[in-house]
Amino acid sequence: MIVPTATDRQELRKLAERIRSRRTTKLFLKQPVDHKLILDAIEVARWAPNHHLTEPWHFHLLGPAKIAECVQLTRTVVTELKGAKLGEFKAEAHAAIPGWLVVTCKTSGEALQQREDYASCACAVQNLMLYLSEAGVATKWATGAITRDARFFDLLQLSEQDVMVVGIIWYGYAKITPQQKRSDIRQFVTETD
Ligand SMILES: Cc1cc2nc3c(=O)[nH]c(=O)nc-3n(C[C@H](O)[C@H](O)[C@H](O)COP(=O)(O)O)c2cc1C
Repeated sequence: MIVPTATDRQELRKLAERIRSRRTTKLFLKQPVDHKLILDAIEVARWAPNHHLTEPWHFHLLGPAKIAECVQLTRTVVTELKGAKLGEFKAEAHAAIPGWLVVTCKTSGEALQQREDYASCACAVQNLMLYLSEAGVATKWATGAITRDARFFDLLQLSEQDVMVVGIIWYGYAKITPQQKRSDIRQFVTETD
């Protein structure tokens, strides 16, 4: 058995704390994030484990015109589903988000491949969020109604036959960083002989 040294343990504690301190953030400052940093985060993201190396992900970095179209679509979709008041509220909130990255996953494989591809994409998103968190950039992984709406696919020129939307990853500098907690670890661990 190789026992970690005191230095190793300290490094591991730091890494654990970095993972723990990433927080889903809803309110962002207007300040934009350096474009190169986002490209670096995407590059790191795709080092996720990926069975058969299918590389099922695609990262769509939205510019201001596309973001405005997404905000309008949010207004429309939420209004249709839940009424104009909430539609306007959501659209305003979304308009204030400085960075939009849409992650899609190929769905062309058979059922097991699709499941594993989605798992890889989820790992990729976590890589991306952790990388950005380390750089002081907050994120939110969102899967609101627009991400399943045909009009969203049209807007991004995506085919519903070929890809699914893993999520919109909103990013920016946090205005407020929420608190989070997790349940007692013991209820999630079983050790067998
Ligand atoms: C697949 C997935 C989809 C999510 N979709 C949403 C969403 O649509 N809206 C939202 O507020 N948060 C969404 N979240 C973020 C979770 O709500 C968040 O991770 C959870 O509250 C725990 O907070 P933490 O990320 O700060 O630990 C999503 C997270 C995942 C993994």
